[in-house]
Amino acid sequence: MSEVISYEKIGDIAVLAANNPPVNALGLAVRQGLVDGIERAEKEGARAVLIYGEGRTFFAGADIREFGKPPVGPFLPDVCSRIESSPLIVVSALHGTALGGGLEIALASHYRIAVPKARMGLPEVLIGVMPGAGGTQRLPRLIGIDKSLDVITSGRQVGAKEALKLGILDKIVDGEPREIGLAYAQELIDANAPRRPVSEMPAPAPVDFDALYDAVLKKGRGLLAPAVAVRGIQACCELPFDEGMKRERELFAQLMNTDQRQGLIHAFFAERAVGKLPELEGVAPRALNAIGVIGGGTMGAGIATSALLSGLKITLIEMSPKAAEAAKGRIAGNLQGALKRGKISPETFEELTEKALTLATDYAALKDADLVIEAVFEEMSVKKDVFTKLDAICKPGAVLASNTSYLDINEIAAVTSRPADVIGLHFFSPAHVMKLLEIVVADKTAADVVATGFALGGKMGKVSVRAGVCDGFIGNRILSTYRTCADYMILDGASPYQIDKALEEFGFAMGPYAVADLAGLDIGWAVRKRKRAEGMNPQARDFTYADKLCEDGHFGQKTGMGYYDYSAGPKSRVPNPEVMPLIEADRAAQGITPRVFTDEEIVRRYMAAMVNEAAKVVGEGIAKRPLDVDVTLLYGYGFPRYRGGPLKWADMQGLPALLDDITSWAEADGYFWAPAPLLEQLVAEGRSFDDLNRD
Ligand code: COA
Repeated sequence: MSEVISYEKIGDIAVLAANNPPVNALGLAVRQGLVDGIERAEKEGARAVLIYGEGRTFFAGADIREFGKPPVGPFLPDVCSRIESSPLIVVSALHGTALGGGLEIALASHYRIAVPKARMGLPEVLIGVMPGAGGTQRLPRLIGIDKSLDVITSGRQVGAKEALKLGILDKIVDGEPREIGLAYAQELIDANAPRRPVSEMPAPAPVDFDALYDAVLKKGRGLLAPAVAVRGIQACCELPFDEGMKRERELFAQLMNTDQRQGLIHAFFAERAVGKLPELEGVAPRALNAIGVIGGGTMGAGIATSALLSGLKITLIEMSPKAAEAAKGRIAGNLQGALKRGKISPETFEELTEKALTLATDYAALKDADLVIEAVFEEMSVKKDVFTKLDAICKPGAVLASNTSYLDINEIAAVTSRPADVIGLHFFSPAHVMKLLEIVVADKTAADVVATGFALGGKMGKVSVRAGVCDGFIGNRILSTYRTCADYMILDGASPYQIDKALEEFGFAMGPYAVADLAGLDIGWAVRKRKRAEGMNPQARDFTYADKLCEDGHFGQKTGMGYYDYSAGPKSRVPNPEVMPLIEADRAAQGITPRVFTDEEIVRRYMAAMVNEAAKVVGEGIAKRPLDVDVTLLYGYGFPRYRGGPLKWADMQGLPALLDDITSWAEADGYFWAPAPLLEQLVAEGRSFDDLNRD
């Protein structure tokens, strides 16, 4: 008998238990084991079959690692058919997460029972495919079009209680899946309950599926899978079951061949790989009981909010009692949001603001802290002053972290007597919302301090990426380059509005100029002033239109005017009429004759600039692997997930053609477009960025 599906006969019930850790994914051996188990149950005269999972979950889906490889039978749809067509009563007992193919196995069973904490869903669209083993054919028969449309096109997980209400489950019982499943199967045998194949239930009457398809496609901003899944539900309503199954398989195969599927699966595995670093193997993190935050501005308050929400106790230091009260107000405001969305109860709100949060003005309050995050003004002298004080007060072994977004952590660490304890923890604003955390490792940072950074990120529900020290680390350094590329395209003839539109069509949630308006144009202005003061490379092009916009008091959304005019509300986004004349004056002053850019060229240049800088970041070891860059851009910069990240995108485009473009643009601007040595090397060796991920 199969090792991953064990067989046992208890009275009239054949018990098939999955044992394929960690998540009982439905790989080949599991599929074969299920078919063998059903056959044996029939041969041995069982009256019912119980299917359940050992360990943490029922089947969590198809084995994603098999995707893209030549398929080997028995295929999952056939396994489901075999289960459903068995003359015995088949019961699935669910716990953990019954996802994708897992839920499809349950839908092919005749009865479904779950523990109260079980969650289920059809998340295939989130990895660029759709249910392919009857999910789109059985679910609408069971729960109707509207509800299955929601479950299938969102890919969301449904809790047991909701699933019972929806009609996915027959019963919820607390206990072990094996015990509740056995009791339910016996109950069904005793009641002489009939087999109940979902495929034999009537399908819902068809609706206007073209309109549904268009609406879902639009909502997905370029994501194909949910819209294609609508066609599967359509097949359920318009075709006999067997033909619907065939149609579902065709649609599934279409999606399997898309770049979007590759991109989304890359993202799935990349976000799980970011925390797996050889330097952390076997290294235990330090304690994380008492956390200090210095500075209660937007950033500090956001970090404190996020930490409080993850159950950590926080001591927040501000300069005066008044500033401390203001910080508390900001944190309470953030937590109000969580309260309104039902994420916390009024009691928890009270507990977090009144008990878990301590405010202080004296650094002495940090003497017992395990980890302190500084989030004060972004200025080296201010940071050095804070770290000198922390060095004097904090207990030995405390981790001292800076939330700087570009300053040199080595220089900050050097003012302390314990540089091994110093690290960068770069949160993204608003810190209680944004999932990305860059863990910036300085020259002398100890391995267990890095591990502590990852442990904190994990506790706070962040996606943590290791970065090395340089101006802007991984994300902001790459951002600065592709933003510059966009600014140059404006000088040469594109408009901010065309650029935003082209990149939004590419899949970014917002174009770079809409983002700049949201973040505040004063940020970029300060950076340009700093860079000019430090002395810019004479070969770098410069421009003034953006400064003039700021000089006129237009800082973006917060002043009601930036690249766009927001007088009719933050979403109105009407181009600000002052912008184009400023740009035209700048072009004229620099003797530039504007030319026409196609949307395609805008995307190509913007992406090439991003990839080229990313290749430098990887080549210099600032990011350890290409996937670290991909995850950074996905979680911190609104990069479209279905494109996998910039370096996965580059691989799929083909690196030689990309390098050719960069080299040709370098003829006009050799400084900006200097090709990354790593990109040249990969092209010369005929390798891809993903090859480096696998090394
Ligand atoms: N196929 C292959 N491997 C899978 C998998 C799948 N369907 N689902 C999870 N895994 C692997 C993960 O890569 C991870 O491997 P690692 O330990 O080597 O990194 C391990 O199982 C644990 O997964 P992880 O996500 O870290 O655990 P979790 O408890 O946070 O979440 C799930 C568990 C099942 C909710 C989550 O992994 C998930 O959503 N999986 C995808 C489910 C899915 O899309 N199924 C439909 C496929 S058609």
